[in-house]
Amino acid sequence: MKGVVFTLLNEMVEEQFGLEAMDTLLTNAGLEGCYISTETYPDEELFLLVEEASKLTGIDANDLVRSFGEFMLPHFHKNYPTFFEEGMNLKSFLLTVDRVIHVEVKKLFPEAGLPEFNYIDENDNQLTMIYSSPRKLCMLAEGLIAGSAKHFNTQYSLIHDECMHDDKDACHLHITIQ
Ligand code: HEM
Repeated sequence: MKGVVFTLLNEMVEEQFGLEAMDTLLTNAGLEGCYISTETYPDEELFLLVEEASKLTGIDANDLVRSFGEFMLPHFHKNYPTFFEEGMNLKSFLLTVDRVIHVEVKKLFPEAGLPEFNYIDENDNQLTMIYSSPRKLCMLAEGLIAGSAKHFNTQYSLIHDECMHDDKDACHLHITIQ
């Protein structure tokens, strides 16, 4: 995982659980911290921090990861505004994640661990994103979709019927735009 993921997690934890919380998480997880955006750290460190955050707050780890995805999106908008082109909507934006955004991210950070998305473009209001990744961060994807919907001021519903956490090869995220 890129350091930027950890610096954003740090920001969210401080904002939502207080300035001391991140230090507590790092200590409890036996980690040093001091993350630098452009460096790369083991994925395991993120999972440990989420586990500790869940213990500290009593919030389910899946809910924390989902909130984190939602928190990340406005930061991506601020740091990478070119991916949010004039005239885009929620669906056209989501269609660019695999084919444009993550392709560019990979050029910038060749060591980034990115997921694969396949799409079923059903109609104007329906899109299925088929997520697969060895990191099984489908809840992060759900949160990033929620953050994107907020950005485009769009109401939607999501059904996540197949999941890698149930031993499926991929997660199916069916999005219906209202
Ligand atoms: C401008 C928008 C976006 C940017 C700049 C961006 C960039 C990134 C970066 C830097 C990472 C971390 C890679 C690593 O740490 O090694 C990442 C991971 C990820 N991104 Fe994006 N992303 C964007 C939008 C989205 C959206 C909208 C979704 C979901 C629909 C998404 C899904 C994911 C997921 C699930 C991961 C975690 C890694 C994994 O599952 O394997 N991203 N992205």
